[in-house]
Amino acid sequence: MHSKIIGTGSYLPAKVLTNYDLEKTVDTSHDWIVTRSGIVERHIAAEGELTSDLALQASRKAIEAAGIGADEIDLIIVATTSPDHLFPSTACVLQDKLGIRNGGAAFDMQAVCGGFVYALNTADMYIRCGQAKTALVVGAEVLTRMLDWNDRTTCVLFGDGAGAVVLRASDKPGIVASKLHSDGSHRHMLKAEGNVRNGEVDGDPFIKMDGQAVFKFAVKVLSDVVEELLEEQKLSGSDIDWLVPHQANIRIIEATARKLGLGMDNVVVTVANHGNTSAASIPLALDTAVRDGRIKAGQNILIEAVGGGFTWGAVLIKW
Ligand code: ACO
Repeated sequence: MHSKIIGTGSYLPAKVLTNYDLEKTVDTSHDWIVTRSGIVERHIAAEGELTSDLALQASRKAIEAAGIGADEIDLIIVATTSPDHLFPSTACVLQDKLGIRNGGAAFDMQAVCGGFVYALNTADMYIRCGQAKTALVVGAEVLTRMLDWNDRTTCVLFGDGAGAVVLRASDKPGIVASKLHSDGSHRHMLKAEGNVRNGEVDGDPFIKMDGQAVFKFAVKVLSDVVEELLEEQKLSGSDIDWLVPHQANIRIIEATARKLGLGMDNVVVTVANHGNTSAASIPLALDTAVRDGRIKAGQNILIEAVGGGFTWGAVLIKW
């Protein structure tokens, strides 16, 4: 038994914040942001717009593209680090908003920017083991609510959005292979340590990052995990039709593609218009390339991501 992606969808909030907008509020410049990160603009969720609202829009499109009814979904995993609440899970809220009653398992998965890769791997395992037949896997974030808008080293990098895929049991792969890793000893390089205690936020609620250290770490572990996965599958970079990387920084994306021997013509890049949407970035990029016709049936798609924790991983997909 295997699992196969049969539909994708995505959603971006209406409000766009450009680098020029940021120049007016923080000591930065459009040129600095573009040169260092490749980001030109990002979308920001409206006041009151929750992660589950973004997830709902993306999920409806994925379900429509898959040509199924929402009631056929027997597993929902939402990868997010910006859930609606401490509990109930965003996955349960999403299930309700989709009108599903007495559904299968629904839960959130928290691996920061690595979340979608972790969630896709988990859903694939559920299907392979016969525990689910039709999974909705979502990456959804309103991470900009965790930003200190006076901290120019972080506030220029992130955006909000959601992407979703429907994964269904299939006699052919589908999800060919996955590799996941983590190393908590590097957790201090990227963190938002605040927590709720006695009704108050205890600790720092904002994202803090050692950008240069994260950059070096990201390039190394992404190259390593991609190599590990391809070696195991006896494949090389030339077998990959599309690399769909986590969209954090164009320089990290270019470095990973270079190590794979892939030209940028084989890489799906959305970071300029989305910024870093954390767990949402890969399903957003996947949906973009599916809908504009770049990703086609039979192609080999490689996705990879690294995020706070640290977590990282890669998944090889036969589309
Ligand atoms: N505008 C203008 N100047 C800035 C800004 C800004 N927004 N931010 C920092 N600077 C300044 C710094 O203060 C520093 O000034 P100094 O030389 O006077 O001290 C100078 O620019 C250079 O700063 P660096 O941190 O060395 O810049 P760098 O080239 O490393 O780029 C960046 C910073 C973009 C954060 C980069 O390190 C990066 O992308 N790191 C990866 C982090 C990442 O992507 N995190 C996302 C989450 S994790 C993940 O998804 C992989």
